[in-house]
Amino acid sequence: MWSGFITTKTLPITANGVDPKRAQLSTKTRCAANIENTENTRSAPQHRQHLLSSLRPAHHLLSLLLVLLVLVLQLLAPHLSRRLLHSVITAEHARRAPLAQRSPPLLRDPAERVCPKPGTSFEDTDKTAYHCRQHTMSLAEHAQRVVAEFDFDQNAVQKSVDEFLREMDEGLQNEGTELSQIPTYVTAVPNGTEKGLYMAVDLGGTNFRVCSVNLHGNSTFTLTQSKTPIPHDLMVAKTSKELFSFLAKQIEAFLKEHHEDHYFSHIKRRNTGETQDQEIFSLGFTFSFPVNQVGINKGMLMRWTKGFDIHDTVGKDVCALLQKEIDALHLPVKVAALVNDTVGTLMARSYTSPGKSHALLGAIFGTGTNGAYVEKLSKVTKLVSSTAKAGTYDDSTGEMIINTEWGSFDNKLRTLPNTPYDTTLDKDSNNPGIQMFEKRISGMYLGELFRLAVVSLIHDPNTPFTSSETGPTGSESKTTTRIPATSPVFKQWGIDTSFLSLCASDTSASLNLIRESLASDLQIPDVSPEDARALQAIAGAVVRRAARLSAVAIGAIVLNSGRLDEGEQDVDIGVDGSLVEFYPDFEGLVREALRGVKGIGEREKRVRIGIAKDGSGVGAALIALVAAGRAE
Ligand code: BGC
Repeated sequence: MWSGFITTKTLPITANGVDPKRAQLSTKTRCAANIENTENTRSAPQHRQHLLSSLRPAHHLLSLLLVLLVLVLQLLAPHLSRRLLHSVITAEHARRAPLAQRSPPLLRDPAERVCPKPGTSFEDTDKTAYHCRQHTMSLAEHAQRVVAEFDFDQNAVQKSVDEFLREMDEGLQNEGTELSQIPTYVTAVPNGTEKGLYMAVDLGGTNFRVCSVNLHGNSTFTLTQSKTPIPHDLMVAKTSKELFSFLAKQIEAFLKEHHEDHYFSHIKRRNTGETQDQEIFSLGFTFSFPVNQVGINKGMLMRWTKGFDIHDTVGKDVCALLQKEIDALHLPVKVAALVNDTVGTLMARSYTSPGKSHALLGAIFGTGTNGAYVEKLSKVTKLVSSTAKAGTYDDSTGEMIINTEWGSFDNKLRTLPNTPYDTTLDKDSNNPGIQMFEKRISGMYLGELFRLAVVSLIHDPNTPFTSSETGPTGSESKTTTRIPATSPVFKQWGIDTSFLSLCASDTSASLNLIRESLASDLQIPDVSPEDARALQAIAGAVVRRAARLSAVAIGAIVLNSGRLDEGEQDVDIGVDGSLVEFYPDFEGLVREALRGVKGIGEREKRVRIGIAKDGSGVGAALIALVAAGRAE
């Protein structure tokens, strides 16, 4: 079954500029346009006869004049007259007929507005009384319209930066704000000299990672890790226990495989009744969801994001939930620190690229998006005013890392762009109205935004989807792109964001990569290079907007720090996530927008952006180290 089908014709022009085929085409399309007329089956002589017999003496000079005019025209332009006469007559009829006798305009249901069958030519459609509209715009032009919908110009960027700065301040002072501005109780970043063996686990996307990190104390480390996809039914499990016991089992499997001695000597000691076990791993728990953190290893889940949805976890301490399941398996592991992946990224960046000025921001542009930055403690006024914040911390540095949870920036859409595709995506998500910034930026959503934009084009009867196919006469290029109803393009989440990266990386003239992927992944075969280029433009626009929005967050945090005004030091930023890692020149797109921000301009060059790989592993281990008080 084929559900997307739109036809267009590209016709050659002959030397005198008139192509017989074109004449044929325009006749048919005009015919379709006149379909409301009920008398269009008469021949010209019949029309004339009918006209004369319908003349009554009382029927005014005007009618006579009109007929004379038409007859004159007919003499002058035989090819034109038939149609003109026809329309004049029918107009006249319509005017004279009593209202009740007027033929109703043909009702056009949407199905009639496109050629109904794949492979049906205009010729066929005419005979079978199907009416193809003339497509006056090419797919490329339609795509440009969609591309424009994804525009986020410099003015808009600036407005959003101003709003971001406002929400940053608001979040530092109050609870329950759009930008959560969560204090993390981490008050120092590493300098590369930290040493030791620590464990880290990472829950936050499609995989659960367990790792052990050996920090060598010279800005280097070795990392051993295992990765398990999280089954979807656990992401939406009925109880927290189902998910957390699964996590504990993965930790157990990891210890057995990679730290066999440690694991089995622990078991042995336990079996011989030794209760004092010194060899307990300190574990940093990277939990990449909004958590109301009240201490270094204590935090209550505020809300799930990124497709997770387990009701009974909300409001609970996630460290305690994990520790309970670890203890149930008698593992030698203590959850020492609760870490957001952005905080881990910031820590990892500071550890691996120590400079005169430590890293300012750790940011993730992956399945989700978020950033954590170093803030002056004096500005985090809600920390002192709120009784809920019971945690203690070392205030000697005068700074604290703040987890912004910028995914929820401007949920009220004061400054964020909003296309019909954004609206649909949000409406159909499991968390409508929240994470509005994330829904315009992160890898979980960009493929879906692109899909919705493409589906809107497919369903638009005015849009021609073309592909190279030779028409019946061979003299024309009759082109169709056929999209089966079973194509993932029609399914929610049917297009992965990696397809957008592929679109950007295909620089070949005929866009073979894109067309192959359309055929193999989306069941859309035989797409013409022109269609592929139109899709490529839309994909590019979706990601370009995402990058410009990312620049809003980065720009605001850089400005808030005031570091660009302090000497000539670079401002260092650690980033991680599939978008920055795999989308060609995502950073370049971010920089382009950063340069236009007031107060940054050319100083954008001093913003150093570097990948901080494995931040959620290394960073969590570093925080576990600090938490365990074992820094050497
Ligand atoms: C979460 C953040 C996380 C980000 C990146 C968002 O959905 O709310 O806590 O840092 O994803 O993983």
